[in-house]
Amino acid sequence: MNRILVTGAGGQIGSWLVPKLRELYGGPAVLATDIRTLDAEMVEAGPFQVLDATDPHAVGQAVMRHHADAIFHLAAILSAVGERDPRLAWHVNMGSLEAVLEVAREQSCAVFTPSSIGVFGPDSPKNPAPQDTVMRPRTVYGITKVAGELLCDYYHSHYGVDTRGVRFPGLISYGAPPGGGTTDWAVDIFYKAVEQGRYTCFLAEGTQLDMMYMPDAVRAAIGVMEADPDRLVHRNAFNVTAMQLTPEALAAEIRKHVPGFEIDYDVDPVRQSIADSWPDRIDDTTARQEWGWKPDFDAVAMTADMLTHLKG
Ligand code: NAD
Ligand code: SER
Repeated sequence: MNRILVTGAGGQIGSWLVPKLRELYGGPAVLATDIRTLDAEMVEAGPFQVLDATDPHAVGQAVMRHHADAIFHLAAILSAVGERDPRLAWHVNMGSLEAVLEVAREQSCAVFTPSSIGVFGPDSPKNPAPQDTVMRPRTVYGITKVAGELLCDYYHSHYGVDTRGVRFPGLISYGAPPGGGTTDWAVDIFYKAVEQGRYTCFLAEGTQLDMMYMPDAVRAAIGVMEADPDRLVHRNAFNVTAMQLTPEALAAEIRKHVPGFEIDYDVDPVRQSIADSWPDRIDDTTARQEWGWKPDFDAVAMTADMLTHLKG
């Protein structure tokens, strides 16, 4: 991996991943792209281009002009937005992946594609959900993620494209806001804690999901791409997790830093039903064995770091 193109670079993950890639590989080596223009910091720190990742011709031209040998493909529609507009989610998630994989095949690029805990459904084991198990998701987002994992495997086995990926849990970060997922509550809660000292959660008390702090997510994305290919059996996509959180458990942790912080609940039935269909905990033993995955941040360290940054 020497010259990298990132799609969907302005989102929650891209706004952290692009600076890290530029630090590691050099600013000019990392072309950030998104369907919209991005803030000055991202655009001034290295090359940037407006790019619709569902347009195979435009993706091909961008890869060729940048002489890219790796693509981090982040452009997607997330779970809650996807349930509001399933056809858009299918079009963006599958159309962009197909475009990226075809360009990668033609121009010999490695491809990182993030999958999600959204691949699991009510028929999957809930605690823990193993690496290899039943995956019959009920959301269009999850359906695109399962199909995406299989398509990436296909491009590897049939065309030799170096495809790799991880199943991210809910990601927690400051900076760019989350893009409309079911796990967004675990970011919103921090902003409301600092601004108002209270938070109304759209998921019910007791709803447990896997989560990860963004610095660990960035390490996972780069780590799986830099892993020794001879050790990789799974490639697309590894379960990775760092912690399991319920709203009340995270609220209790935040209360140690924001005395008197209060949480109440106004449950959104759509996002609650998505969360209820996902596991309480996923098993990431395979990622630990095949490429040495290990998170740095647990809930205690993540909460302290988030609040340090948000309180300024
Ligand atoms: P996000 O919604 O924050 O960002 C997505 C970016 O893609 C946005 O900047 C958007 O402008 C861009 N985009 C949308 N349509 C596009 C198109 N047609 N062409 C180019 N760009 C387009 O999402 P994110 O949280 O950064 O997620 C990135 C990837 O990681 C997605 O595949 C997502 O499913 C996956 N993921 C995210 C999480 C999480 O908690 N954030 C968890 C699991 C998996
Ligand atoms: N955070 C993502 C979502 O909720 C999980 O893929 O959609």
